[in-house]
Amino acid sequence: MADSPIPAPWLDRLQRSAERRRALGRERAIHPPAGVDVCSNDYLGLRRDPRLAEAAAAAARIHGAGMGAARLLRGTTPLHGALEAGLAAWKGAEACLLFNTGYQANATLLPALLGPGDAVFSDALNHASLVDGCRLARAGGAAVQVYRHLDSADLAERMAAWRAEAGPGALALVATDAVFSMDGDAADLPALLDLCRRFEALLLVDEAHATGLLGPSGAGLAEHQGVSGQVPLVMGTLGKALGSFGAFVCAPAELREHLVNTARGFIFSTALPPPVAGAALEGLRIARTEPWRRARALAHAQRLREVLDQPGVTSAIVPVPVGPDAEAVRLAEVLQARGFDVRAVRPPTVPEGSSRLRITTGAHLEEDDVAALAATLREVLGLG
Ligand SMILES: Cc1ncc(COP(=O)(O)O)c(C=O)c1O
Repeated sequence: MADSPIPAPWLDRLQRSAERRRALGRERAIHPPAGVDVCSNDYLGLRRDPRLAEAAAAAARIHGAGMGAARLLRGTTPLHGALEAGLAAWKGAEACLLFNTGYQANATLLPALLGPGDAVFSDALNHASLVDGCRLARAGGAAVQVYRHLDSADLAERMAAWRAEAGPGALALVATDAVFSMDGDAADLPALLDLCRRFEALLLVDEAHATGLLGPSGAGLAEHQGVSGQVPLVMGTLGKALGSFGAFVCAPAELREHLVNTARGFIFSTALPPPVAGAALEGLRIARTEPWRRARALAHAQRLREVLDQPGVTSAIVPVPVGPDAEAVRLAEVLQARGFDVRAVRPPTVPEGSSRLRITTGAHLEEDDVAALAATLREVLGLG
């Protein structure tokens, strides 16, 4: 075998880092799907819907398989415009801008909006993409304050202390997941909006796990909590409930215009491929016209939550708290052997000592699947 093209000191570093992961039992590996899907974010069961496949094929035939350019060059088709208009209307926003992934949107929004002296206040359990956005904002001179999970009192205290010290013209932004990806709990958007009004701060809400699922029309948590159209920055993803791929930010026109001119993840990246945009448009249409899908996904989750004694949560994410990494992995393997595709989630995705199984439900699941999973969980977890 030829010598490795990796220089020796680098090989050494990689090996030591892999050894550390092995010692902690924290190696990550890519496993293909196997068994009943109770771990993806395909909440409405649209990922394999033939209507999305047909919309993707039609879009490819008309507009091509790829865009070949960023949006600001030749990367726009009528599908991109229609998708932005449809998403804005659904979310009750003035305008919308597509991004290629949720990760890219979150990582790029914060540094595009914040500068030296400004501050971002971020919930302690926000998704990694928002955390990375905070890091980039910090590199641009903004202060980053992490407030206790869902704790508006802690946030209020931090904002008041910051305001007392901040220079004239300094601006604040509060960033939160709508539904938290690893716990399935939800932010209190009216309370956050009140605080943001008090401190003249922008609110950014990541609706990745709420879009398509919550609210009378499925538009998300803002709609569910009666504040549709009031959150100035609503980020959502197209790769979860809507069955396609990509992301978007709904916002007033001034914010959209600012992002078009400053968000590097938007400017310097090839536009969403037409089949992806076409499938997302069809996913959006179905999400709006087939409300039984979200009702079914949420009812499935509710049924599992009853088994786990987790009242009062409304999302399709059902965490099974375990604690030690090895036990979470063992339980996932037991459930996999019973035919359920359940994955263990370990640090750094979740805080130390809080490894868990992350179960999700979707409209594709049959009642029998959910009943069988509930019974298996009872047995495997030794629940009454
Ligand atoms: C809350 C949250 N935001 C953002 C993302 C990133 O979205 P995407 O998968 O489109 O990059 C995810 C997960 O994928 C998520 O769970």
